[in-house]
Amino acid sequence: MKFNEAQLEKYRARTVRSKELWQRTKAYIPTGHAGGMGAFGEHPIVVDHAKGCWLWDVDGNRYLDLRLGDWVLIHGHSDDDIRGAVYEQMGKAVQVGAPEWDMGYRMAQLLIERMPSLEKVRFFVSGTDANLCAIRLARGFTGRSKIARSVGGYHGTSDTLLVGRSVLRAPDDEVPLGVQSQAADDVVQIPYNDADGAEAIIRSNAAELAAVIIEPVMTAAGMVEGQAGYLQRLRDVTTELGIVLIFDEVVTFSVAYGGGQAHFGITPDLTTMGKVIGGGLPVSAVGGRTDIMDLLEPDAHGGVAPISVMATFGGNSASLAAGIACLEKLTPEAHERMNRLADRIRATIDGFGQKYGVPLHATGLGNLIGVHWAEQRVVDDPTLRNDDREKIQNINLVLDNEGYYQTFTGLFLLSTVIGEQEVDAFLGAFERALHTLGYV
Ligand SMILES: Cc1ncc(COP(=O)(O)O)c(C=O)c1O
Repeated sequence: MKFNEAQLEKYRARTVRSKELWQRTKAYIPTGHAGGMGAFGEHPIVVDHAKGCWLWDVDGNRYLDLRLGDWVLIHGHSDDDIRGAVYEQMGKAVQVGAPEWDMGYRMAQLLIERMPSLEKVRFFVSGTDANLCAIRLARGFTGRSKIARSVGGYHGTSDTLLVGRSVLRAPDDEVPLGVQSQAADDVVQIPYNDADGAEAIIRSNAAELAAVIIEPVMTAAGMVEGQAGYLQRLRDVTTELGIVLIFDEVVTFSVAYGGGQAHFGITPDLTTMGKVIGGGLPVSAVGGRTDIMDLLEPDAHGGVAPISVMATFGGNSASLAAGIACLEKLTPEAHERMNRLADRIRATIDGFGQKYGVPLHATGLGNLIGVHWAEQRVVDDPTLRNDDREKIQNINLVLDNEGYYQTFTGLFLLSTVIGEQEVDAFLGAFERALHTLGYV
């Protein structure tokens, strides 16, 4: 992987203070990144402050934010309504060791109203927590132990969730260091967007499979949108074989009002959510069919719930207040507007590929955009591996130098506060980057 020297020099010159402060932090925190998805590129910028769709680094550079705090801030930074709701709740109660009759109730209602597959929900803190609970529920419900997941997908950081091929690691690193080797016994990998291939593997493991967990768009793995026929086949075969179908909508919640399941018209048994739903504070959730969710309900089982889950901060009142304020303004119209802009970006980038006769193309759905440089259109993990990462990262570097903040991995997300003008400017910068780098 080699960065364009002139662009790298430019980046270094304009991010001197970022580098200093990042290195100072690295003395205390491995990677220099307190949390989040990680630092990419040569060195990260570090942020001084942010508002709406803009953020400013400590060197005084301004960026259009297309990373959204690691895919969280759907209404941009420091949204006035969300801030007001959190301040108000902070004055009432932040964390109560009692059933959440107000915030929890309203948040549950907001989710259930937009996702008809949810009959009941339970709150946690991270997407990983929610996926762990969903898997435990599926195991308890079916009495089976294995889960099937897509090759290349990402669902969080527990042992079971980390087993498998991931675009975030080397292809042969299927059980990362520190993960229990036995965890691999419980994980079956199915190909993404290959309905016949996935069905055959599910059928041959059916007696032991508790769940199939799948993202409607493989997000970290390149914003690869699922094909409707593929997702429907997973629904059909899991229904037939009594396997719990879990939609991981931790990221895809934002692709439509009602998430990926609303877009594709498919009803999973359980859904996990996170990121966007907390409005910038940590909230995640698992929800779904009453008969499965009621494994958590003592009253449905003679006074003792078969599965008990605890999460000290799951249902934190200030976080739920932020989530409620966020969801109340994440209307169908807000989704439509974002999606129209993202469709325009995808179509224009595809158009650049055609205009210049290069294998540049865009994937994704809703506000999630992936950019690829590969002869064959990216539809799964093997086609993603053909991506020319060097070209993608260099385009990202030029865009960063032009004031567009993102993960350096070719993934861009729109928020509701990005408008036509910002999109036009971004597309102009994107086309210029192709010339600057001599790629067209
Ligand atoms: C699809 C998906 N599921 C689950 C997770 C895990 O969420 P968290 O980092 O909040 O544990 C992520 C995180 O990026 C994700 O992308």
